[in-house]
Amino acid sequence: MATGSGKGKTILFGEHFVVYGLPALAAGIASETTAEITRVRSFGWKLVDKRPAMPGYKEKKYEEQKASIDNMLKHLNIDTTKTGFQIDLGGDLVCASGIGASAASCVAIARALNEEYSLGLNDDQINETAYIGEMGYHGTPSGLDNTASTFGGLIWFVRDLSGGSPKFEKLKLGKAANLVIASTGLTASTKVVVGDVKKRKDADSDWFDSISRAYNHLVNDARRALIELNFDKVGMLMNRNHDLLQQLTVSCKELDSLVDIARVNGAIGAKMTGTGRGGNMIALAPDEATMKRVADALKRGGAAGVWMTTFGL
Ligand code: MEV
Repeated sequence: MATGSGKGKTILFGEHFVVYGLPALAAGIASETTAEITRVRSFGWKLVDKRPAMPGYKEKKYEEQKASIDNMLKHLNIDTTKTGFQIDLGGDLVCASGIGASAASCVAIARALNEEYSLGLNDDQINETAYIGEMGYHGTPSGLDNTASTFGGLIWFVRDLSGGSPKFEKLKLGKAANLVIASTGLTASTKVVVGDVKKRKDADSDWFDSISRAYNHLVNDARRALIELNFDKVGMLMNRNHDLLQQLTVSCKELDSLVDIARVNGAIGAKMTGTGRGGNMIALAPDEATMKRVADALKRGGAAGVWMTTFGL
């Protein structure tokens, strides 16, 4: 039996824009998905998914998850026609859109396969395998989620649009930032939402270009503000990033309502995170007491799940 794990993540800046080669900032969170591989006598593979999840999440993602595992097996040349295996997924990462659950499970499975089949993969190769797995969930992943899940920490990430390896850099802040993550409880399909943005972009490139120009300034300012520990500015830029995501039509009334609740209860800034049209939002809090106040207000305001975490150190 072999085991592996992958971290959950939250996108601080750059969902959707990252698909088109603009920089993104993402933070790994402490919660993770674990995978155990046990060889069995029968052929093929069987999945026992014990991950905690938002209602409906696993059912909605099942077909994509199957494609994802088959992709990784093909990439790693693992033949299950004679001896197969069982994959047990677990861990404390609650599966919801926007928390990097699919990437975390790909990384966990890739690591467990690496150990079980003695493949000798390093972290870059685990990341590459998880990327191939992510393609089962949506055809054109930027690679941000699997990179954040493999390496953890705070990362600055830029996709190479010509198909080469992405550029990413780990950033360390001098101080931890307090973050609340809340779920709408709605599961969105990344494939559908990313595809929809692409259709709109193809139909009106001026519309997309003007929003992405504004985003490009914003994300570079956000990187500077994070390094300078200017959290007030980071929060203000998160609010502006949310406005741009609304313009991209990837937010929804449930996300907007949680974002408003966080802001009126003391968050320095709040935005949706990840795919959107459901899934999660994040709120930056100035201190621990405010973080608890924001979390309580989000629970009272109808969030389906609320988590408190830190990033940056
Ligand atoms: C999904 O977590 C993030 C998106 O930007 C898609 C991607 O990066 O592949 C929406």
